[in-house]
Amino acid sequence: MKNDTSSKIIPFYGGIKPELFEIERRCMDRKGKVIKYLDERLPDGLVLDVGAGNGFTAEKLIREGRLVIPMEPDEKMIDCSKNLIWSNGVAQSIPFHTNTFDAMYSTWAFFFDGIKDIDKGISEVERVVKDGGRIIIIDNYGDDEFCSYSPNDITSSVDPWSERGFEYEVIHTEFIFDDVQEAKELLTFYFGEQGKQVNKTVLEYKVVAYTKVLNKTKR
Ligand SMILES: C[S@@+](CC[C@H](N)C(=O)[O-])C[C@H]1O[C@@H](n2cnc3c(N)ncnc32)[C@H](O)[C@@H]1O
Repeated sequence: MKNDTSSKIIPFYGGIKPELFEIERRCMDRKGKVIKYLDERLPDGLVLDVGAGNGFTAEKLIREGRLVIPMEPDEKMIDCSKNLIWSNGVAQSIPFHTNTFDAMYSTWAFFFDGIKDIDKGISEVERVVKDGGRIIIIDNYGDDEFCSYSPNDITSSVDPWSERGFEYEVIHTEFIFDDVQEAKELLTFYFGEQGKQVNKTVLEYKVVAYTKVLNKTKR
């Protein structure tokens, strides 16, 4: 029988197909516009990365005065060769004390439309982040060349986030592949037949950042 934590994990391919995840992480937002966006808005102090994957983003955001703690539930994703202090946990039950972090972010992890216990994840984040701390959630925005290859709607809806008190900004970035073969390989894996149609190395990609500064006294 599954234990409580494993039943809360959203299955992700990265641990069983590391070669494909390597293409994804190298080519999506290759110019690092999302990293720059986060770097400019996250404070010094202690920052939590929820659903950190292999630590790609956390590693880049650590600087003198800012310690990022990557939290990741899938042990196959955790890359212990990186100079990071890892935590193993899920968004719905974050294994830290109340008011531990100065800020939190999450990139394309757990906080997707339609996830049934998304509010449990948000309330857990709001518990562990201090009053006045910033929360930043990154997702696909949609309405771009990348999403046009998907047979399904993979865009994020802004309204539910606005209703929860988040503001949003769109980051205009790109997937930049080394060659068309690599683009076809990843997009076919994501999108099936439609992905095979890709015939170029640069794809416009819009990313949304939902942000909120916590005001715990208002509740
Ligand atoms: C699309 S990957 C993104 C990884 C990383 N944030 C990045 O940008 O490279 C989604 C990650 O969320 C993790 N995940 C799955 N269920 C989760 C949960 N309930 N809470 C937190 N993270 C979860 C997966 O294991 C996976 O590593």
